Order: sequence, then C-alpha cells, then structure tokens
Amino acid sequence: MIATDLIGIESLERDDIELILETAERMQELGERQVKKVPTLRGRTIVNLFFEPSTRTRTSFEIAGKRLSADVINFSTSSSSLSKHESILDTARTLDAMQPDAVVVRHGVAGVPKRIADVLGAPVINAGDGAHEHPTQALLDLLTVKQEKGRIDGLTVTIVGDIVHSRVARSNIYGFLKMGAEVRVAGPPTMLPPAVETLGVKAFTSMREALEGADVVMALRIQLEREAGALFPSIREYAETFGLSRATLRFAKDDAIVMHPGPVNRGVELSHDLADHRPSVILDQVRNGVALRMAVLYLLAGRERAAEGEGAR
Ligand code: CP
Repeated sequence: MIATDLIGIESLERDDIELILETAERMQELGERQVKKVPTLRGRTIVNLFFEPSTRTRTSFEIAGKRLSADVINFSTSSSSLSKHESILDTARTLDAMQPDAVVVRHGVAGVPKRIADVLGAPVINAGDGAHEHPTQALLDLLTVKQEKGRIDGLTVTIVGDIVHSRVARSNIYGFLKMGAEVRVAGPPTMLPPAVETLGVKAFTSMREALEGADVVMALRIQLEREAGALFPSIREYAETFGLSRATLRFAKDDAIVMHPGPVNRGVELSHDLADHRPSVILDQVRNGVALRMAVLYLLAGRERAAEGEGAR
C-alpha cells in the first residue's frame, strides 16, 4: 500500500507500483460506460493546486475526481491571495483548514509538494515539481507500456531528449528500472545529467546506438521555457540529430512504440507524422492518465474504502 502522499516514484516499491497499475486497470472499464461515474469518493473533496500551466495533468485529475463523485476544487493562483504575497505554505495551510481529502500540487520548483505535504493533514499528490519528479506521468506511461507490450520486465526503453531538465525522465527512469526494464537515455551531452549512469541507466549521444533493439522509445519535450534552447546550437540541428522520425525509428525494433508526455514541439523532438500515427501511443497515454489518476485518488483520498477493497463498481 502506498504511503500517505505520492511525492515521487523513487520512494515506491515495485509492489506499490503494481497495486496502482492494477487499480487503474479496474478503473479503465468505467471510461467505456455511457455514464462514467461511480459513488466511490462521494463526499470527499479534492483540491487541484497548480502553480504552473497544465492541460493534461490538471484536467485529468479533475475528470478522475469527478468520475469518482468527489467534489473537485480548482485553485486559481492568479485570483488567490498569493497575489497579495501570501506564502505558498500559508496558502496550503489555509486550504487544509477547509479539510480536503487530497491536494494535488504542481509547482515549478523542485521540492514544493514535499514541503506542502510536511505541513498538511491531507494526502498530497505531486503533479510535477521542477526537474524533480512527475510520478503520475510515469505511472500512466508504465500502464500504457504494460498494456501495449503485455509486460514491462525485460523490455528496453530509450528516453530521448532533455533529460537534465525533465521530471518525466527522472520518474520514468525510477519506474521502468523498478519494474525490470533496461533504461537508456540519449541526447546531446549538455542535456544528459553528470554521472547519469549512477541511476542505473545507459547513456548515449548516438541515436543509432541508443535505439538499437529498443521496444519503447520515449521522446521528451525540449523545454524552451527552462532555457533548454541554450544547450544546443539550433533547434534545427537538434531536430536533425535527435528528432524522432520514421527514418530514425528504423534502428529500433520493428514493433517499437513511440511515446511522448506532451505537449509536443512538432518537427523538433518528434516528426508530425509520428506525432499523429502509430506506432505513436500519445493519445493512449492521455486516456490512461484519467484511469491512473482515478486509481491514485482512490488509494489516497478514499483510504478506508480502499482498505475495505471497495473499487469502481
Ligand atoms: N505531461 C504533462 O504533464 O502535460 P501537462 O503539462 O499538460 O499537464
């Protein structure tokens, strides 16, 4: 059983990950129904506390909470007392005094969700913090690979791009390694963290070598808002050397799948054609994000009910 909060994949055991993925698979069936709602979290309150922009994560947490019948509050930073210089921790304490059952936090600075979790009574779920972790993204990626390939153990997963700035890369490295995959990272030397191999991955600056025999290829977004553009000579050169297209994908296994956490810089890290068509599974990742976040909310915000074994029904 996962602990009180979900701050990162690093602190999870393989059993925790398996429990979350199995719970998400049970939740998926609900998305196929005409009435996509069960009373599992009726009377519970979820607060979405996003200090950074988000389309997929914020919306899917909201849909996930509503499908479980929770009341979901989307906290707006621009119209809050943060604009009157109230601190983030005081904001969190204030919201906590209203007795929510879970708080979902995204922030541009690594460590903020953990700091908030330290002062809150409610479970805190990290929805992405700086370059630290994005645990629910990695969990939905694991779910997608498990369903596409029928297993994770023994697969070769290559993550390409801005590894140094990427919380998605970090969480996926922990997650795929814990689940028994071989993990490779690839990109220009400036985008690979120093001593990245100490995490247990193999590092490459050649796409051909990185992709050879890969079952899963994950392209990452070049984070231009975090000055990643200064780490290579030009976007065009990056696209030519590390962009994923049908031509570069031929180095991977014939049945390799292509993933991307979104949003995509089309024509930079991923060709237009690959972004829109198989073997890309980008929209499956998005779809799985709802079921995965339902599972996390159920396991954390519906604690007593989860312990009693009550699920989607
Ligand atoms: N993958 C991801 O976190 O996307 P959003 O920023 O749109 O939530």
